[in-house]
Amino acid sequence: MSEESISLEDLKGIGPKTADKLREKGYDSPEKIAVMRPEELADILKITKKAAKDIVNDAKEKVLDKAVPAFTFKEIIQKRKEKIQRIPTGSKELDRIFRGGVPTESILTIKGEYASGKTQLAYQLCINCLKYLKRKVIWIETESGTFVPERLIEMAKAVGLEIDPENDFIVVPASTINTPYSQFLAYERAVRMMKKKNMDVGVFVVDSFSAQFRAFYTGREMLPDRAKEQARHLGYLDNLASKYNMLIVLTAQVMDIPDQGGQLGERVKTGHTKRMVGGNVLSHWSTYIVSLQKLSTTDWEAVIADAPDLPMVRCRFRITPSGIRDVK
Ligand code: GTP
Ligand code: MG
Repeated sequence: MSEESISLEDLKGIGPKTADKLREKGYDSPEKIAVMRPEELADILKITKKAAKDIVNDAKEKVLDKAVPAFTFKEIIQKRKEKIQRIPTGSKELDRIFRGGVPTESILTIKGEYASGKTQLAYQLCINCLKYLKRKVIWIETESGTFVPERLIEMAKAVGLEIDPENDFIVVPASTINTPYSQFLAYERAVRMMKKKNMDVGVFVVDSFSAQFRAFYTGREMLPDRAKEQARHLGYLDNLASKYNMLIVLTAQVMDIPDQGGQLGERVKTGHTKRMVGGNVLSHWSTYIVSLQKLSTTDWEAVIADAPDLPMVRCRFRITPSGIRDVK
């Protein structure tokens, strides 16, 4: 019998009645039984732990290879090659640092002060996703007035792209987002629309990720609650990244560090002297953290502050009418 066709009734000790009972509880496949704790199964079926263990073992015997995939190094590389896409940033220098662009199936957090270019870089990733990956975009705006369609049209024109106003973007505007909870609902709303419209989304932006958290959780005693809620958001977004092969782009504001020692430490760790709001939890969940700073009227600096596969490097870029570009 092939693994594909196996059903609950094919497991030793499970008849049609028992199978129905399990399905009712949501355990509708041998794969789900294989990863259960015997105690849990015993409890549901009102059978002994020994009998439950026999059923779980039989399920493992029959479907474990499918229930818990394991790969060789070669297979992992092959899989990544087939799946991971790279989204150009607009700056060749920055792309080079990212080995050809920011990869999908990851979370990119962009940190920096106001006017450091966070939103502009997020825009450019959206435009390049539409242009080069031919995949759609979701934008969650958590502070009003920061999603500017005219600017996106301008950037699109610069790469010869005409935005399809009906099908390229799902936008949740800031008007309904006034707490971290409504921000979470915005993700769910956007994903529901994506599924309904059967859209293939490559980039999912939350601009800003941290603003609502900062406003809602004031005071040190609320930090544990804030961390818990942040983890819930990031867990959801992380799951989207792998389920739909998306790049999640989050922007985060920074705050001053009062003492010079702290500033120096921050500079060593992240390239710049200001600390990201939402600090530890956000750092933990981000695949990449890029720290931005405005250097002059024409130039900006990006530092790869944290990455699993890239060294900490700096590069300069420009924000031009066409979008993010290299310093000529
Ligand atoms: P906050 O959201 O306030 O924290 O800032 P941010 O980091 O998102 O800054 P943003 O990405 O909005 O970058 C702002 C800078 O980009 C501005 O100071 C401008 O110099 C530049 N910029 C913004 N819009 C345009 C534009 O339409 N054309 C050009 N050439 N530059 C722009
Ligand atoms: Mg912004």
